[in-house]
Amino acid sequence: MPVISKKGLEMPASPIRKLVPYAEQATKKGKKIYYLNIGQPDIKTPEIALEAVKQNDIKILSYSKSEGSETYRKKIASYYLKNNIKVSSEDIIVTTGGSEALLFTFGTVMDVNDEIIIPEPFYANYNGFSQASGIKVVPVISKIEDDFKLPPIEEFEKLITNKTKAILICNPGNPTGYLYSKEEIQKLAAIVKKHDLFLIADEVYREFTYDGIQHYSIMEEEGLEEYGIMIDSVSKRYSMCGARIGCLVSKNKSVIQTALKFAQARLSPPTYAQIASEAALDTPQSYFDDVIEEYVERRNTLIKHLENIEGVKVAKPKGAFYCIAELPIKNTDHFAQWLLEDFDVDNETIMVAPAGGFYSTPGVGLNQIRIAYVLNKESLIKAAHILKEALKVYKD
Ligand SMILES: Cc1ncc(COP(=O)(O)O)c(C=O)c1O
Repeated sequence: MPVISKKGLEMPASPIRKLVPYAEQATKKGKKIYYLNIGQPDIKTPEIALEAVKQNDIKILSYSKSEGSETYRKKIASYYLKNNIKVSSEDIIVTTGGSEALLFTFGTVMDVNDEIIIPEPFYANYNGFSQASGIKVVPVISKIEDDFKLPPIEEFEKLITNKTKAILICNPGNPTGYLYSKEEIQKLAAIVKKHDLFLIADEVYREFTYDGIQHYSIMEEEGLEEYGIMIDSVSKRYSMCGARIGCLVSKNKSVIQTALKFAQARLSPPTYAQIASEAALDTPQSYFDDVIEEYVERRNTLIKHLENIEGVKVAKPKGAFYCIAELPIKNTDHFAQWLLEDFDVDNETIMVAPAGGFYSTPGVGLNQIRIAYVLNKESLIKAAHILKEALKVYKD
């Protein structure tokens, strides 16, 4: 028998998607499920983006350039300029989602067995991308009691070895909703400069910041030009997850030249999706104002109802559309499955993401879940009620 690679066997299943078979079973039995497990927004994609594809009369659906279409990259650069990020089209490589930008970045700055420091809990697929690239995630724990703020810089310094190549942050954070302050970015800038590391910032939720707090990008920080790599995506910004378009941005020429080789190996990003993404850049500000207002209301509704459940602890998110909730139980993996298989309130239940998979330290976060507030307020209220009732009867 041919054998599967050790790397493949050790590849983690996504904690966000692994409960899907149980959800399918529950649906077959006629249960209604509120999906709080996945960051698929229910917000409409801007019409302008969909129209650009419909109105197109392409005769040959050819490859585009490996780094992405020229006109699209120029337009992304002007969008960044408006956001105080001074980059040109040459600093941008268009990728198949932010996911591919992460893979290219890991391939560009790390060799097998190199280490990357990431504040945890973190976006679970960082584990998968690290496993695929043969690199080691070294976690530094951020705590729910501190609202998941940046751990003290000394904690990072303790973890730096001669194998450390980069620090990766997600800002605003998935799954925490934490938004790093300018001061925190500056602390990270100082440490990467001191130790000659790359600072990779996944900023795919940049637009989603609340309570009047401004997002501060690593690309705004002077002196970080050779160190900073930004990951971006249209998936959440324009509710275009299915377009599969993202980008990698850096002022470091060697990073771009090297990442381009990875991009050339996969030939090019999808053509129609680039057309849609380019058109999406003309989305009026009013679209975002409405979306942000909606998310703020959803967040407030969800947090208020979660705080009313006895024993539940939650950190109020300042950005993105997720929160981590700590539950008065031991094992949310089992709880999440039980919710789908054995529990309902009037034939309705919820699907949540157990948070263990968002940590790489074994045994941490097992009593936490991640909730994506991508549903309307009425659904969120019902979902919180179901959670409350479930916790009354659930036995660990
Ligand atoms: C923090 C973060 N980074 C990157 C991605 C990847 O997004 P995509 O590949 O759809 O651009 C996601 C998707 O949920 C995410 O939450």
